[in-house]
Amino acid sequence: MTDQQTPVIAVDGPSGAGKGTVCARLAAALGWQLLDSGALYRITGLAAGRKGIALDDESAVSRIAAALDVRFEPTSEGVRVILEGDDVTTTIRTEEVGSLASQVAALPAVRDALLQRQRDFRAPPGVIADGRDMGTVVFTDAPVKVFLTASAEERGRRRYKQLTEKGISASLPALIEDIRARDERDSNRAVAPLKPAQDAVLIDSTSMSIEEVCDQVMNLVRTAGLI
Ligand code: C5P
Repeated sequence: MTDQQTPVIAVDGPSGAGKGTVCARLAAALGWQLLDSGALYRITGLAAGRKGIALDDESAVSRIAAALDVRFEPTSEGVRVILEGDDVTTTIRTEEVGSLASQVAALPAVRDALLQRQRDFRAPPGVIADGRDMGTVVFTDAPVKVFLTASAEERGRRRYKQLTEKGISASLPALIEDIRARDERDSNRAVAPLKPAQDAVLIDSTSMSIEEVCDQVMNLVRTAGLI
């Protein structure tokens, strides 16, 4: 099987729509590779921040992105992310690093620098790609493309629940506001804006369970003849 024949399920959409959980479950169920492209932007933002590089210094940040010394280590509790030997699995999930990620993601040279690294995840038997531009830029030939959304209020409530369950205090209105601001930035940026691919299937998960979303995507995978 050549790289181009290796099937890809491209799952795009705004943060909090459930892409991460859905993609992790599908990857485990199918035994396919998982590409968490947001993690690459988060790691780039964190690495640039740690090196004291200004986030609007496009060429310096893109050099960091091109040379990232990062490893993804699958464990029984999920994938651990190791940046220059340091376990940053939890650090990259903070709101602060999410904001760094969204700033570096707006730089075209950074997106270019991460493009091949993302395509390198395409290996048999298949890959589930989680991101914002998987179906529109990175894997335009993906046989299954999904655009997963949910209302900003519902995404805010999900994030609030996640944080409070971890003992982290949070304000629901502030979270919803942050989500709206990030959507706005991601949808209106000049390069690779967040939008569904023309051939993507739209799934609104506002009143759906994770299981229902996974079932719906699995049906698309079956219909496409991938399993
Ligand atoms: O998905 P996640 O919340 O981890 O992504 C963090 C940020 O990285 C997003 O807000 C977005 O700005 C950026 N991103 C992107 N393209 C992707 C994945 C993430 O621009 N494919």
